[in-house]
Amino acid sequence: MTDVTWIPEGVDLTRPSAARIYDHLLGGGHNFAADRAIAAKLVEVQPNVATIARRNRAFLRRAVLFMIEQGVRQFLDLGSGIPTVGNVHEIAQRVVPDARIVYVDSEDVAVAHSTLMLRENPFATMVQADVTRPDDVLGSGGVRSLLDLDEPVGLLAVTLGHYISPEQDPVRVFARYRDAVPSGSLLALTHFTDDFADIRADDLVETMRSTQNNVFPRTRDEVLELFTGFELVEPGLVTTSQWRPEPGGEVVDDPSQDGLWVGAGRKP
Ligand SMILES: C[S@@+](CC[C@H](N)C(=O)[O-])C[C@H]1O[C@@H](n2cnc3c(N)ncnc32)[C@H](O)[C@@H]1O
Repeated sequence: MTDVTWIPEGVDLTRPSAARIYDHLLGGGHNFAADRAIAAKLVEVQPNVATIARRNRAFLRRAVLFMIEQGVRQFLDLGSGIPTVGNVHEIAQRVVPDARIVYVDSEDVAVAHSTLMLRENPFATMVQADVTRPDDVLGSGGVRSLLDLDEPVGLLAVTLGHYISPEQDPVRVFARYRDAVPSGSLLALTHFTDDFADIRADDLVETMRSTQNNVFPRTRDEVLELFTGFELVEPGLVTTSQWRPEPGGEVVDDPSQDGLWVGAGRKP
């Protein structure tokens, strides 16, 4: 018999979700045939799409470790996705065992699987909420019980911003989280862009249209605006593989194939 505890009741198996497509691209098993069909189409359009996903995940790890080095001991992971290799609590708590992590996602499978994984972890929790409604997130039981908003917070928005439509106003959404955290907090994000000729952004956007998550690529300047009120740390806004690579890490010949703008900033 297969383990079905991560499949929440009522989940629509036929409507692909970004969380499950990404899980499949990373080699995970918490996805359905409809998700895998879209992933296959994405690969047809952009053959290196799984590499883009893997590099994004590697950035998340480096960003968490960087934040810990900077003294951050608590994280708010917005659009945290389905647990896979190298989850934030695993990365952080290996270094700081009582680091606190609140995961936030709206997708049912991401929420069910994360809740299951965290049930014996007193310092990490999952909140099901729409991140474009910051008051719901900030007022949630998970945030109120685990995070001390008088101490620096590591805000993570890794492959999240491009799911926020212009009407939902991502600059306003990010500003609300910035205003809720004290000086010394850090924001790390990655964001899909159509700035690079190597990336077939229009076709990728079109392919995602039949899923639960439309995609809105943004230019470098538009992504920079999301850092309003933060000071970018070195090396600034770059592509995934250019951001603080680890010594001996992957050598990348053509960073424009990364497909994402990434960076981290500190609230002064
Ligand atoms: C591609 S996954 C990224 C997972 C993880 N952050 C990473 O980069 O490895 C994007 C996640 O954002 C979530 N998401 C998108 N829009 C959201 C929203 N408005 N509220 C909450 N979660 C959202 C999706 O459900 C999905 O799980």
